[in-house]
Amino acid sequence: MNKPIIGGILPAKLETVVGQKYFYCTCGHSKDGALCDGSHKGTGLSPMPFTALRERTVMCTCKRTKEAPYCSGAHRGLTEDDIGKPA
Ligand code: FES
Repeated sequence: MNKPIIGGILPAKLETVVGQKYFYCTCGHSKDGALCDGSHKGTGLSPMPFTALRERTVMCTCKRTKEAPYCSGAHRGLTEDDIGKPA
């Protein structure tokens, strides 16, 4: 299993420190859907490191963005029923 699942249907708006390194969840299994919490274990996926450019970062949780880790609006049309389905 190495395909992400839909972790959320709305972007996560996080307070971030400019210049600080974070790890974006690419698998969709993390609790907040945005930052890696180690839940990818066994999925074959790995977190994506990124450096915050702003004090507020709008991150993708649906895992459909083409601009990871940022929201690109690709979550539009998703519903609560889609959470946990393949992204
Ligand atoms: S929890 Fe999803 S990549 Fe680590």
